[in-house]
Amino acid sequence: MAFISSWLRSLALSLSLLAVTTSSSELVSTGLSVTLNDVYYYISPYSSGELDIHPSDLSSVPSVHGIHPVTVVQDAISESDLPDLLEDWDRIDDVFQTGFAQAIFLAGTPSTCKTNTKVLGHDDSSLILPLNSTTVPSGPYFLEIATGALYPVYRLYDDFSDSFTESLLQTPNGTFQPLSAQVPGSATLTIGVPSRLYFTKTREKPLAGVRVGVKDIYQLAGTKGSNGNRAWYSLYPKNKVTGTAIQRLIDAGAQIVGLQKSSQFANGEQATQDWVDYHSPFNPRGDGYQNPSSSSSGGGASIGSYEWLDVAVGSDTGGSIRSPSSVQRLFGNRPSHGLVSLDHVMPLSTALDTSGFLTRDPYIWDVASSILYGKNYKSLEGEKPNYPKTIYTLNWPTNPNTTANNVLISFVSRLADFVGGRTKDLNLNTAWAASRPAGAGNVTLTQLLNITYPTFISKEQTALVREPFYADYAAVHDGRRPFVNPAPLARWAFGDGLPDSALGDAIRNKTLFMDWFNSQVLPPVNDPLQCSGALLLYVGSSGGQNPRNQYGPPPTVPFGFSSGRISVFSECPDHVFPVGQVSSRSAITQHDEFFPIAVDIMAAKGCDGLLVKLAQDLVEAGIIAEPMVGQTILGGDVLMKK
Ligand SMILES: *[C@@H]1O[C@H](CO)[C@@H](O)[C@H](O)[C@H]1NC(C)=O
Ligand SMILES: *[C@@H]1O[C@H](CO)[C@@H](O)[C@H](O)[C@H]1NC(C)=O
Ligand SMILES: *[C@@H]1O[C@H](CO)[C@@H](O)[C@H](O)[C@H]1NC(C)=O
Ligand SMILES: *[C@@H]1O[C@H](CO)[C@@H](O)[C@H](O)[C@H]1NC(C)=O
Ligand SMILES: *[C@@H]1O[C@H](CO)[C@@H](O)[C@H](O)[C@H]1NC(C)=O
Ligand SMILES: *[C@@H]1O[C@H](CO)[C@@H](O)[C@H](O)[C@H]1NC(C)=O
Repeated sequence: MAFISSWLRSLALSLSLLAVTTSSSELVSTGLSVTLNDVYYYISPYSSGELDIHPSDLSSVPSVHGIHPVTVVQDAISESDLPDLLEDWDRIDDVFQTGFAQAIFLAGTPSTCKTNTKVLGHDDSSLILPLNSTTVPSGPYFLEIATGALYPVYRLYDDFSDSFTESLLQTPNGTFQPLSAQVPGSATLTIGVPSRLYFTKTREKPLAGVRVGVKDIYQLAGTKGSNGNRAWYSLYPKNKVTGTAIQRLIDAGAQIVGLQKSSQFANGEQATQDWVDYHSPFNPRGDGYQNPSSSSSGGGASIGSYEWLDVAVGSDTGGSIRSPSSVQRLFGNRPSHGLVSLDHVMPLSTALDTSGFLTRDPYIWDVASSILYGKNYKSLEGEKPNYPKTIYTLNWPTNPNTTANNVLISFVSRLADFVGGRTKDLNLNTAWAASRPAGAGNVTLTQLLNITYPTFISKEQTALVREPFYADYAAVHDGRRPFVNPAPLARWAFGDGLPDSALGDAIRNKTLFMDWFNSQVLPPVNDPLQCSGALLLYVGSSGGQNPRNQYGPPPTVPFGFSSGRISVFSECPDHVFPVGQVSSRSAITQHDEFFPIAVDIMAAKGCDGLLVKLAQDLVEAGIIAEPMVGQTILGGDVLMKK
């Protein structure tokens, strides 16, 4: 019997070998990597178009495998304007360099004309050639001499802050494949970004060329996802569709360059003790060894580290965008709940999950929000808002006896001056006791909401994620259970101990709080230029240190009620504003370093556009500095950067 079955197996094997040798082989290019003047580039396998070219035309231009660096200029300019144009390109695009300008295909050049001119401002001269395509966008390309095909150029960067789980190439039809390139890096991925020159922002494509990282809980067509879990990645096949949220960004022209690290199943995790399956990203601020926070950790670390990345898409259920934004000194938003469908996104709690951004640029923030949230977002671009005059503060410092207190006190007073309003310290517990709804009974906010958040996330995620995952894994692994990090396990275990009625109680308690808060504290105002009855501020980060080399305790269940939970339950927008930094001694570098101070500002539900406009206005008024990449508020090198 044993003999027969092994014979059958070997027969089957030889048959399949035969099948392989007789069918024609499929050879597919996944792109090519080169260096040009010591800069690493990736050559896309998807041609942008073909040019009419004679094989000898480019004999003076260097090549590898018959591929030459060239430049396409569609602008209607004369040869004498080329130096200024190329200088401009060099400044606005990190991909273009004069190494591409040895051969320039210039629109309007007569077909017989071929000149050799000095346009580079140094001794090298450029070949100026006729351009017979009107559709290939301007910019640098690699031209295949045998076919005349122009291949788009991507510059390659080392993901030194360990922010990504997969490097992606967005194909011309908006699906994805892994980007097959590697530059030197210590156990890090290589990310490729396309030339900014290929893209022109239009009404239909306002995000054209904007480079985006996406949290690895959003499904993208053509990629496998991990949700921060290795077993998940290996178990499930490639996704077939991209969900509504990310597809909206792609349709508006965004360039998705990779999937970014999430703490596991988007549960909160500390860098050292909790990240078992993957290594937590590195926070670039200060000494470079602070916790990046979670769960949108890769989004925060990357936007704080990389000039070449414009925006990260994260998700916020209980602070997963706000907290990484705060400690990495970025703008970031937990939007009003329910602004965009979260189909094809891993849920933590459908009642509380939101999709938002981490960014340095408040203008890209506005455009990206308009696209992601569609008609649910009211941009105030070009408008003059009538900002709310009441500014509530929660637990705000009153004594300017530390740098952080001083920065926070001064920020709120400058904000009040700017909007022509008054600040008012709000004690939420007292306000609740004075005006809570009769249906709530005689309970404090902590009694009402202490277990509400962990009830939502554990009851929902065990049912929607854990159960199908465990069943699917067991089915193909002989009944085995997949590995799961300690933090999600601790939370799921709490849910297992709750009765089935707990989710209904959580919804009741959340609704009681939400209805009270949205009528008593941050009521909407029926004037789009004001939108909200008040602004509410709390401290997001006060320049403290939380180094990642400290061994913390095992994960616990996130009980309790705090300022950060207000937007979670009330469904109001809660946007992070980086307002300053504190210098203090780092135990790691034995040197003074700067650590971020950030403030959360909330407004009535639906007033997301007002908060983004406020960010723009405060930057323009010089009240806050637009965040830069690097160690400090003024930028500077990231430690450990190559
Ligand atoms: C440019 O030349 C290529 C190669 O000869 C040809 O395929 C293409 O149609 C031409 N394009 C235009 C716009 O003339
Ligand atoms: C998109 O393009 C890729 C790469 O050419 C291809 O494999 C895939 O089938 C295309 N998908 C769709 C939906 O057109
Ligand atoms: C600053 O003042 C507050 C309130 O008066 C006090 O609690 C705190 O200990 C003081 N901190 C320092 C560093 O003096
Ligand atoms: C509400 O509860 C508090 C604290 O338990 C108690 O002091 C107070 O008397 C109660 N009020 C009413 C109206 O029951
Ligand atoms: C919140 O609930 C947990 C679990 O029941 C309990 O251990 C904890 O003491 C509660 N905290 C407060 C402040 O009531
Ligand atoms: C709901 O609120 C009650 C107090 O009214 C509290 O005892 C209970 O633990 C809360 N349950 C959840 C799931 O929030």
